[in-house]
Amino acid sequence: MTPPNQPPDEGFHEKELASDMNVSQVHGSILREHAEPCDGYEPIPLWLITIFFGIIFWAGIYLAYFSGGFRANVFNPAQVAWAGGGAAQDTGPIDPKVLGKRVFTQNCVVCHQTTGLGVAGQFPPLSGSEWVVGSDWHGDNHLVKILLLGLQGPIQVKGNTYNNAMPPWNQLSDEQISAVLTYIRSEWGNEAPPISPEYVKAIRDATADRAEPWTQEALKAIPAERAQAPEAAPTAPEAAPEAAPEAAPAPAAAG
Ligand code: HEC
Repeated sequence: MTPPNQPPDEGFHEKELASDMNVSQVHGSILREHAEPCDGYEPIPLWLITIFFGIIFWAGIYLAYFSGGFRANVFNPAQVAWAGGGAAQDTGPIDPKVLGKRVFTQNCVVCHQTTGLGVAGQFPPLSGSEWVVGSDWHGDNHLVKILLLGLQGPIQVKGNTYNNAMPPWNQLSDEQISAVLTYIRSEWGNEAPPISPEYVKAIRDATADRAEPWTQEALKAIPAERAQAPEAAPTAPEAAPEAAPEAAPAPAAAG
């Protein structure tokens, strides 16, 4: 048995001895002389790498907490609602015409077109339509009714006859219907007062038991109503327009 520290055999020991001398000579000179300082690339020190990644890590955490989701308005004081009030609280409810335009673009534009002119012979125009602005025998109640339940069969719009069918839009909310009607009544040169969500709700409740779409026939039998009574005649649809003010002063001049 050989002790554990003993080299395993003589041959090996001799070879090692020769190279050991070389190794100690070489290392001796290295230990004495330091490496020449020189220009050029050197490996980045470990401490610098550590600090570098440390800063990146801190910056990531900082952004995660304080970036405000990178929303543009977060750092704009004019758009931020501070505790004491601010622009965001002053804007109020969404403009019905903006909402109305959105509802129109999403639901009506395919048939009635962005121009509101419809498609000749197929889809009637909304621009200048008696149905929309409530002239002739048409009332606001008729307009809301056809939106809620649809319209089918022959109808007259601006002197042209259409015989087609419009699907009901009762899946839209009172706000959406009121907004889209307010929009089509004020767009393309139409000038009619807005229709409130409360009025839409009232008509929706009143016609809850009807399921089939309206026809022009059935609507004509229902007297016209105004959603918002104009100053003069609350229910009468369009009094005689001939009673113009120019006619009045004539008798007064005699006295
Ligand atoms: C699928 C096509 C289609 C879509 C979508 C459509 N309509 Fe109609 N609309 C028609 C047709 C067709 C008529 C005429 C029905 C008839 O001939 O009896 C009509 C009639 C009307 C009328 C009465 C006639 C007139 O020209 O003034 C109004 C008002 C109206 N639609 C508003 C709307 C609104 C508001 C929307 C969106 C919420 C809408 N329509 C979506 C096809 C459509």
